[in-house]
Amino acid sequence: MHLRQIAPENLTFEQAAEELKNLAKELSALDDAYYREDAPLLDDSAYDALKKRNEEIERLFPELILLNTPSKKVGASAAEGFSKITHKEPMLSLSNIFEESDILDFTDKIKRFLNLEQDIDFVAEPKIDGLSYSVLYEKGQFVKAATRGDGAIGEDITANIKTIPELPLQLKGNNFPDTVEIRGEVYMDKADFFALNKQQETFGKKIFANPRNAAAGSLRQLDPSVTASRKLSLFAYTVGYVDNPTWQTQWELLELFKEWGFPVAPQIRFCRNNDDLLNYYRHMQEIRADLNYDIDGVVYKVNRLDYQKRLGSIARAPRWAIAHKFPPTQAQTRLNNIRIQVGRTGVLTPVADLEPINVGGVMVSHATLHNKDELDRKDIRIGDTVIIQRAGDVIPQVVQVLKEKRPQNSKPFEFPKFCPICGSHVIREEDEAAHYCSGGLICPAQALARLKHFVSKDALDIEGLGKRNMEIFFDLGWIRTPSDIFDLQAKHSDDLIFMEGWGEKSTSNLFDAIAKVQQETALDKFIFALGIRGVGSATARILAEHYATFENLTKQATSLFGKDELLAIDGIGDIMANDIIDFFQEPKNRELLEKLTSQIKILPYENHKRQTALTGKTVVFTGSLQEMTRDEAKSLALAAGAKVSGSVSSKTDFVVLGENAGSKAKNAEKLNISIINEKEFKQMLEII
Ligand code: IVH
Repeated sequence: MHLRQIAPENLTFEQAAEELKNLAKELSALDDAYYREDAPLLDDSAYDALKKRNEEIERLFPELILLNTPSKKVGASAAEGFSKITHKEPMLSLSNIFEESDILDFTDKIKRFLNLEQDIDFVAEPKIDGLSYSVLYEKGQFVKAATRGDGAIGEDITANIKTIPELPLQLKGNNFPDTVEIRGEVYMDKADFFALNKQQETFGKKIFANPRNAAAGSLRQLDPSVTASRKLSLFAYTVGYVDNPTWQTQWELLELFKEWGFPVAPQIRFCRNNDDLLNYYRHMQEIRADLNYDIDGVVYKVNRLDYQKRLGSIARAPRWAIAHKFPPTQAQTRLNNIRIQVGRTGVLTPVADLEPINVGGVMVSHATLHNKDELDRKDIRIGDTVIIQRAGDVIPQVVQVLKEKRPQNSKPFEFPKFCPICGSHVIREEDEAAHYCSGGLICPAQALARLKHFVSKDALDIEGLGKRNMEIFFDLGWIRTPSDIFDLQAKHSDDLIFMEGWGEKSTSNLFDAIAKVQQETALDKFIFALGIRGVGSATARILAEHYATFENLTKQATSLFGKDELLAIDGIGDIMANDIIDFFQEPKNRELLEKLTSQIKILPYENHKRQTALTGKTVVFTGSLQEMTRDEAKSLALAAGAKVSGSVSSKTDFVVLGENAGSKAKNAEKLNISIINEKEFKQMLEII
């Protein structure tokens, strides 16, 4: 029998020694993959099981505990390429429990330790599945930020974290300690995660397995402008070092976080006994899928700080808090068929039809297979038994094929050479993972998918024009182009009232919803609705911010220097710039845009960002700055709603002058543009 299959209590002394060594090696490799590569090799519950086995063996054979035991390790050491920051106070991890019955054991131990008979108060919080950060504030001013790293030393993510608009650069009010390390979790909203992966898929770039990996991959970027282009969010939940805390409980601290301008998870509850904790756990498990961020369990924390202090910590985790993890969201099922879906940009996406199965409380019958490369890499075949997982707990994915269960006559899946909908040739562009239908506008699948996208929630959001209705109107020939939507009332209202399922009420509701869009539509939503290849909602927002009006965007994108201007925008690269230009230059699209702009009032973009003296201004950097890198300065300016341009023109508002500046400074002088130094730049951003 393999060592791994022997229960800890049945291991001999030698076997236990051997197994502890194996586990240390294995867990260290898994940690590296998880923390450094942002690419986990095992799902969380399998990892936790290994960790638990290690702890179990150590408990039975304490004399065999290794010096570098995985049970004392927190995360992985800081990665190369980032400067290191030593935390003023180590960043601890949490011990885990998995069973409901473990709650009693946890609270009992605490009561015994404190020598108390009565129940004590707890704060129960969602366990955010992101990556932890620690930010140092001095006199309320942001100083620097780090990842957890190995708990003692983390990676310097100062420039990156500053691009997250939710992070206060100055704590609000005056009720804060002189020095404080504020800690919490950076995460990616589920919707932003899907949008990012969709974009990555279109460009054949790395698909993130879940929002946690996407958040980690976005935050731990050597180039902070990449971080700035991804939508990240954060919550605060604890402090590290702090001088003279004025609060006495975790609950008060959470209230203070809010006062200082930090987001705090809204689902935090006060609990007075074990029943409260248990009910909280069950409740959170129920609403888990509906939250817009991923959680992998809940955390219980002793409320009173004096109790926390007395309880202290063991090895890597405090005694006063524990993580109660949710059961795994993986399951085994049969893959009945592989279908090819044609999306609005013509991308062919293979989709698995599964034998329906319950995964973590949700019935799953389809999973995305992403693209041909993924399919080939995992060698997924019709008839296979597969392990599926709800990544980010929503989109199901095929994690692995159980080859030993494969039917004998199975054949590798053949990716189609012709579009299954319109029969056009399937093409693949160099350097891209995606295969496209070359049918363009003649492919009904693309046309319909584009229309569905046009009216979808993050686009024009027309209630009453859901997917099913759009299919019906498309088949009837009533809506074939986006502009047909706005002719619907004039041309088809009489037919619609008499159609099955439609009465006067729902017909007039639909027309009201359409009219609302015509009266006013936000610029970023409109740009997103156009379905330009690669332009997701984040990029649409960046474009809206930069160009401010649709007229301006159209004019610039078709002008001689249109591409240069696009390339000067942070977050827009060469491929995307070409796609945007191609879109605006295509005569059919121009014709459509002309019609649409006469049908819809598109509002100029309003800036929602932190208002500073630089908000809405165009800034050009020249020369080298002393206290920050160019990238850092750029992302700070962007985060404050400024536009950053690569060259000086009459549209430039400020030129930030560093040392050894070149011709840009002279140009600015000629054009009479304000020149400011690094200090003035920081003052304008209100960061000094
Ligand atoms: S408290 C000493 N609260 O879970 C207390 N951690 O597995 C340290 N986490 O390292 C952490 N949500 O990255 C705390 N509400 C929450 C949390 C939370 C997520 C993470 C954190 C921690 C890890 C431990």
